[in-house]
Amino acid sequence: MNVKETLLETLAGSDGEYISGAMLAEKIGVSRNAVWKAVKSLETEGYSIEAVTSKGYRLSAENNRLSEKLIQPFLKTEDFGKKIVILEETDSTNNYAKEIASSGALHGTVVIADSQSSGKGRLGRSFVSPKGKGLYMSVVVRPDFDIQTASMITSATACAVAVAVEKLCRSEVNIKWVNDLYMNGRKICGILTEASLGMEMKSIDYAVIGIGINVRSAGGGFSRELRVSATSVEDETGLRINRNRLCAEVLNSLEKYLSGIESRNYIREYRNREILTGNTITANVDGSTVIAFAEGIDDNANLVIKLPDGTIRHLSSGEANLCRVIE
Ligand code: BTN
Repeated sequence: MNVKETLLETLAGSDGEYISGAMLAEKIGVSRNAVWKAVKSLETEGYSIEAVTSKGYRLSAENNRLSEKLIQPFLKTEDFGKKIVILEETDSTNNYAKEIASSGALHGTVVIADSQSSGKGRLGRSFVSPKGKGLYMSVVVRPDFDIQTASMITSATACAVAVAVEKLCRSEVNIKWVNDLYMNGRKICGILTEASLGMEMKSIDYAVIGIGINVRSAGGGFSRELRVSATSVEDETGLRINRNRLCAEVLNSLEKYLSGIESRNYIREYRNREILTGNTITANVDGSTVIAFAEGIDDNANLVIKLPDGTIRHLSSGEANLCRVIE
């Protein structure tokens, strides 16, 4: 590791405490002047570092620059995040992750971008990904479970991300079946899982789990229409969220939820967080939009709905929304 990398890692591990120039110089094995130069160089790269005479240096709570060195101190994982690719911009981190997965990227490899020019949502929609405002990340997984279990990756991920966000901001996060996370009735996160089947089509070769969290206020980055239905974690909580820490917490939680997915224990938690249940909804059934009652979530994370003629259907994918009352 060079001076800048060691400096970043040390500042990241100080938990917001100042570290004196002398201590940094000793730890890194360079002069105090070299520490100062490295700080200036990191600042030109976009890192926010506070320097106070007689106290030393610390990473500012305002720092919004993504870095592997700032994620790693918070990781408690076996595999997830051992390899992290950080990009200034890409079309879609899912596309990038699929490309490297097809050439052998390891289980747990993570791709993060500061912005996406063609962020992808479910059902062919786009996911607006303005620079510096969100956490846009994709995780390559090589699951050893069967296809039926693999189809539950998205719902398990929804629980995992909800827990991670709640850990940082202590505000309740809900799930709208199947892949959306909500705070106070508006969307803060979407999940898009894309899988590649093995040769015999009986198992998954790899899957890419794409997670897009609206962290900071997007302001003009969102259309007026989007501002009605979507919000950001910071807008809802009034807190400053550290994207590097959030990324680590998502990976910690995701690894845990996916390793326990076969037990289906997470389904109880998914049900508790799910917001369509018990409401009249619109759902896409056999290609048409129908009004139905959302009965709940079954053990395979399907949405169970009752149609007006009393028929019960279990939906494994598609679109469902709360019916809005027009006054
Ligand atoms: C949805 O809301 O329908 C799903 C949105 C998923 C967005 C994330 S952002 C990171 C990853 N890359 C993408 O292009 N999409 C996912």
